[in-house]
Amino acid sequence: MTRLLHHAAVAILSLSLTSIALNSVVEESSNTGTLRFAAQTQGIFFGAAVVAQPLKNDARYASALSREFNIVTPEDEMKFGFLRPKRNEFNFSAADSIVNFAFSHSMQTRGHTLVWHQRLPQWLTERHLSPFEVAVILKEHIQTVVGHYRGRIYAWDVVNEAIDDNTKYRSSIWLDALGPGYVSFAFRWAHEADPQAKLFYNDYGGEALGPKSDTIYDMIKTLKARSVPIDGIGLQSHLSADHPPNFASVLANLKRLTALGLEIHITELDVAITMPATAEKLQRQANIYRDYIKTCLAVPNCKAIVMWGATDRYSWVPRFVPGKGAPLLLDDELRPKPAYYAALSELRSGIRFTTTLP
Ligand code: G3I
Repeated sequence: MTRLLHHAAVAILSLSLTSIALNSVVEESSNTGTLRFAAQTQGIFFGAAVVAQPLKNDARYASALSREFNIVTPEDEMKFGFLRPKRNEFNFSAADSIVNFAFSHSMQTRGHTLVWHQRLPQWLTERHLSPFEVAVILKEHIQTVVGHYRGRIYAWDVVNEAIDDNTKYRSSIWLDALGPGYVSFAFRWAHEADPQAKLFYNDYGGEALGPKSDTIYDMIKTLKARSVPIDGIGLQSHLSADHPPNFASVLANLKRLTALGLEIHITELDVAITMPATAEKLQRQANIYRDYIKTCLAVPNCKAIVMWGATDRYSWVPRFVPGKGAPLLLDDELRPKPAYYAALSELRSGIRFTTTLP
């Protein structure tokens, strides 16, 4: 009798274990339909900028993020003014909520951004500071923030938009006090605080060959020649469906950046439409996403494609660019757009040889 009970218990246990295993297999295989799964098979990161507020309040948004992407970038929450409302007060709570979300869903995080001319707090901009004070504030900022996230950030946008539209060093509190050397200092200080994190220079308008990408290329070449710890370049890629980039030229740029030994991330991809969005404009947008992903996949050093948002619902574009909108892969209701299907199909085409664990 006891033996019989024992056999029955074992049978019930193994049945329930089988059904748990089957359930997780079913869950896994249903996830093979996502951008995240397709990107993983290519060995690349595919991601989106994230905003902390809806991450907390909008469950559909949070689940779309972890389903479709394997890397996130806090859209605003790691900027200087956001993190450091007072000289001696750091507030990491919103940024932490994004990093913790990413960690708990096996996603990576890109840190954005340590040194920028925008989003600076008033306490920093309103009074005259000596160059020495500026250097002290910058070093303590970089090392406190990078130190806080040590071991948890895959890559940092260390310096953002240091080159202006006339291909000169952009005037900013940093340049004006410290000269162009602030760029090297920033990388060295970040490296000291987290030697494992990959350190990136990030900018817009330098995707294809041209005066701006030439200047960025020369700057990074010089930094590398001086042993500045820089690992990669971020190409923001805020595009318009009205003017597709010249992808042959983007490819040539990616190849010369690769030759410098840089890892390449597409960091802020979106393709704005002149509203209203018609079927024809949405298709044009889809083609641009397809061609950009194809171009990145053609270059082994291109390791991440991050959209500047997951859904049109929370995109910065309609708030900042009058008449433009609908720039992302999911619409206002988080439904996949033609661009989503174009991205999915391109990520599934051919499997890139992977040399490292994604
Ligand atoms: O957080 C406040 C909120 O409390 C307030 O109610 C609201 C009212 O205006 O403002 C909110 O902050 C705004 C925030 O966006 C969230 O909406 C900031 O004022 C506004 O400056 C901020 O804009 C961000 C902008 O960078 C400046 O930091 C955009 O979201 C963000 O998409 C944009 O991102 C930049 C990248 O960092 C660098 N490359 C270009 C890219 C697009 O401009």
